[in-house]
Amino acid sequence: MEAMAAFRDGAMSHPTFKIAVLAGDGIGPEVMSEARRVLDKIASRAGIGFEFDEKLVGGAAIDAEGSALPDATLEACEAADAILFGSVGGPKWESLPPAEQPERGALLPLRKHFGLYANLRPAVCFASLTHASPVKEEIIEGGFDVLCVRELTGGIYFGEPKHIDRDGVDPVAVDTMVYKRSEIERIAHVAFTAAAGRGKRLTSIDKANVLQNGLLWRETVESVAKDYPEVQLSHLYVDNAAMQLIRNPKGYDVVLAPNLFGDILSDEMAMIAGSLGMLASASLGESKGGGHYFGLYEPSGGSAPDSAGQGIANPIAQILSAAMLLRYSFGLEQEAASIESAVRAVIDEGVRTGDIFTGAAGTQKVGTTGMGDAILAKL
Ligand code: IPM
Ligand code: MG
Repeated sequence: MEAMAAFRDGAMSHPTFKIAVLAGDGIGPEVMSEARRVLDKIASRAGIGFEFDEKLVGGAAIDAEGSALPDATLEACEAADAILFGSVGGPKWESLPPAEQPERGALLPLRKHFGLYANLRPAVCFASLTHASPVKEEIIEGGFDVLCVRELTGGIYFGEPKHIDRDGVDPVAVDTMVYKRSEIERIAHVAFTAAAGRGKRLTSIDKANVLQNGLLWRETVESVAKDYPEVQLSHLYVDNAAMQLIRNPKGYDVVLAPNLFGDILSDEMAMIAGSLGMLASASLGESKGGGHYFGLYEPSGGSAPDSAGQGIANPIAQILSAAMLLRYSFGLEQEAASIESAVRAVIDEGVRTGDIFTGAAGTQKVGTTGMGDAILAKL
């Protein structure tokens, strides 16, 4: 990050950033190639160097090395400035014990190891793509743009005790939801900062009518709110939020949620947005100063094994994840924004992969590399 500050100050002519590239399974490698092409173009245009270190992860790593997150992969991530992640999982590995499966065996340890507590999941529905949403046109006419901010390293995912006891006549499973005030504070700051930089409205999600966690969550978010007088804060119980978000997604700006609730609501928002192939995400650790973070960036959509290897997957989610990487890990705001505008321009021109193609007049269907070509041409 210092590299970028020095670059902007003119002290350094050609900064180099190290990116660990974990393409994973299914469509991961195909969409990752398109993101790589976009990053290469940005690099040559902006006079920056990206050093890519490709490593195995997920099912591909299980097959080759017996673990979803081999040591060599973790070491490459440690040596990098950011992680660009594809997607992991597929039918081949579904019968493994849950903790060894690609998704859990790779993602949860990466989040915990790097302290990636802040998960940003933009749920954006472009005006021209509302047809891809299962929600009625009258509800999402004009599209919407909601940012889900999910706490990612605490709550019921990681709280102790956590165990399953199958020995007795009536087996028992225990998961524990634990939040410290400090954990709620830091994610609340991320959410308020994001809201302050966009629509200035924050909706905080909890279950304060039942859970002690909800009480602490709500009072902590209220106290953090005092630092952000320009942001309008409201609260929703998670069950009500599940209804309100689908009833009127356009009514929301930033939504802040504890780990499990954020997992669920961000999937709901992704579905309402229409195509999973369009949605990026960032998982960020502590700030390194100047608004820059170590982070892992990945599409929201998963490995889509049915489409893998056919060259039909939508690479936009991966490309937009690379844009988020440039913004949050490298401070390259202009470059990030130029990728986002290129994507928007291509969609406005009617270029569509199969997941968002309806055959409407003025649109043309392309494959994965066709979409990559169209985006590159706009850069
Ligand atoms: C997600 C996924 C993961 C989660 C799974 C694969 C462990 O659903 O990133 O939302 O529950 O966090
Ligand atoms: Mg999920």
